[in-house]
Amino acid sequence: MIRHNGQQGPAPLLRPVGLGDLRLPNRVVMAPLTRARATNPERTPTELHAAYYAQRASAGLIVSESVWVSERAVGFSNVPGLYSDAQVVAWREVTDVVHALGGRIVAQLWHAGANSHPDHLGGRVPRGPSAVNPGETSYTPTGPKPTVTPEAMTRADIRCAVADYRTAAEQAQRAGFDGVEIAAGGTYLIAQFLNPRLNQRTDVYGERRGRFALEVFDEVAAVWGAGRVGVRISPFWSSRDRPVADQQRAGYPYVADERTLAGYDELVAQLDERGLGFLHLRGPAPSGAPDLGAFARYRALLRGALIANHGFDRDSAIEVIESGVADAVSFARPFIANPDLVTRFALDQSLATSDPSTHYTGGREGLVTYPIYAAP
Ligand SMILES: Cc1cc2nc3c(=O)[nH]c(=O)nc-3n(C[C@H](O)[C@H](O)[C@H](O)COP(=O)(O)O)c2cc1C
Repeated sequence: MIRHNGQQGPAPLLRPVGLGDLRLPNRVVMAPLTRARATNPERTPTELHAAYYAQRASAGLIVSESVWVSERAVGFSNVPGLYSDAQVVAWREVTDVVHALGGRIVAQLWHAGANSHPDHLGGRVPRGPSAVNPGETSYTPTGPKPTVTPEAMTRADIRCAVADYRTAAEQAQRAGFDGVEIAAGGTYLIAQFLNPRLNQRTDVYGERRGRFALEVFDEVAAVWGAGRVGVRISPFWSSRDRPVADQQRAGYPYVADERTLAGYDELVAQLDERGLGFLHLRGPAPSGAPDLGAFARYRALLRGALIANHGFDRDSAIEVIESGVADAVSFARPFIANPDLVTRFALDQSLATSDPSTHYTGGREGLVTYPIYAAP
């Protein structure tokens, strides 16, 4: 017998939806999840990746873990890339099995920028929008290390970075993905350009902090068509998202003040004009249920599709879709521990909780070992 804990049935989550040129059979999206399992010098995904994504192919859409757009972009250990031909061949195994099981998968394109470390770059100092240390941590082969003061990117560096995104977008097509998502959230290169404390440039990339993001979008959209390109932002990223020790550090650079938010508003409006496939919005860190007002700010700026993320459960996901604020909802930690999340929502079954100690390490343990729901 089907159990319902609230008044609402699962219907809104199970209704098909179009996100740009992508057609989803349901609105339960798997959010991007770095799992650091590409433990090989070529940074290629392995058969474990294929098994992990295959287990989750019933998602309306899978957004892959972040993948490097080039060697220059690297800033976290054991994360796969999408620039070499060997990586394309290995990713093809993943996309083929997801498609064979009826799923869809887009590649999330990542560049760490100033959030890298010389240990990742053969001793070279990382580059970012300006020579300002972001005060973050980089996960190097010998453990977490504090970031250093980067070199400010020259115009040539910016051209190279934009070209790297284009190459990765082309490789994503060869690898059989259904589209791409540009990672513009967290503390990484595009978010650094959008951040007035880290982007102190006096050229066009400083006058319009969203310019770099738009150049990347235009290059990637030239490969895929805008309707198959999503952009993920986390404008509210701030000390509230971080451990207390970080919050106490003076001068924490990621603060969702009005100046920062205004830059994001401008970017979102311009992406919408270009017909982006979807905006994937990581909202503020919720203290209880997600704050729908934060998502509504972006709904008002968009004609296109919106995926909401951060702290949603079945009921709050139904609410944000029913209210018209979001078209789909993405789940990160719930998808780690519940490969059959869509079925669990459909049948209102209880959810397992992921073990943070295996989020980023552990080989198959904590990656492909979470079972589907066992009926009592
Ligand atoms: C282990 C782990 C890895 C993550 N990796 C990525 C990533 O590669 N790219 C990204 O944009 N967000 C990443 N995130 C953020 C999630 O996509 C998501 O925004 C966050 O977990 C909040 O969603 P949730 O409440 O459904 O877990 C990661 C989160 C976790 C817990």
